[in-house]
Amino acid sequence: MTSYQIVMDDELEILIDAETIENAVAGLAERISRDYAGKDLVLVGVLKGAVPFLADLARAVTIPVELEFVEASSYGNGTASSGEVRLTRDLDRDVTARHLIIVDCIVDTGRTLKTLLELLRKRLPASVEAAVLLDKHVCRTEDVGIRYQGLEVPDRFLVGYGLDWAQKYRNLPYVAAVLPEKMNI
Ligand code: IMP
Ligand code: MG
Repeated sequence: MTSYQIVMDDELEILIDAETIENAVAGLAERISRDYAGKDLVLVGVLKGAVPFLADLARAVTIPVELEFVEASSYGNGTASSGEVRLTRDLDRDVTARHLIIVDCIVDTGRTLKTLLELLRKRLPASVEAAVLLDKHVCRTEDVGIRYQGLEVPDRFLVGYGLDWAQKYRNLPYVAAVLPEKMNI
């Protein structure tokens, strides 16, 4: 099946193809499976962007995990972070004494993950770590320890594999950059 290779729009440039994503996810899943063998692990997905990554990661790990969700918002509909991270959906379960991994598709400034890590630590889990597939390393302003990182990406506005541009393009099975001349900002 090759239909996904057709770019849905002429405003995108594919940066990371589906196979590269699959390999990166497999590598992270292997490490997580080893590190948490015999432990009570909950993967906490950050809605909505983490959905494809969480689904693939959860199926690639070889240990039992539970899935929970939070939702955080910092970008609104724009293409630059507003700077303020709001929790728009909290966990609906007690996670005391459980091992948690926050799962998000991308880390940019690090503010979202830092806020979520601080918040979840207050719930007294056995441990809390973070896993991200994409790392916009040059944009980091926060000192946040991320134990599981997949692929480094450039400082461009990205869509696909969960990432959106005003809610569009989350369903692309690859990661693409929006062409600067199409962004109108
Ligand atoms: P941070 O708080 O600056 O690290 O930003 C993290 C959040 O911003 C992610 O969870 C994404 O929702 C969003 N984000 C960061 N970079 C991009 C991008 O290139 N495209 C779409 N969303 C992004
Ligand atoms: Mg977004």
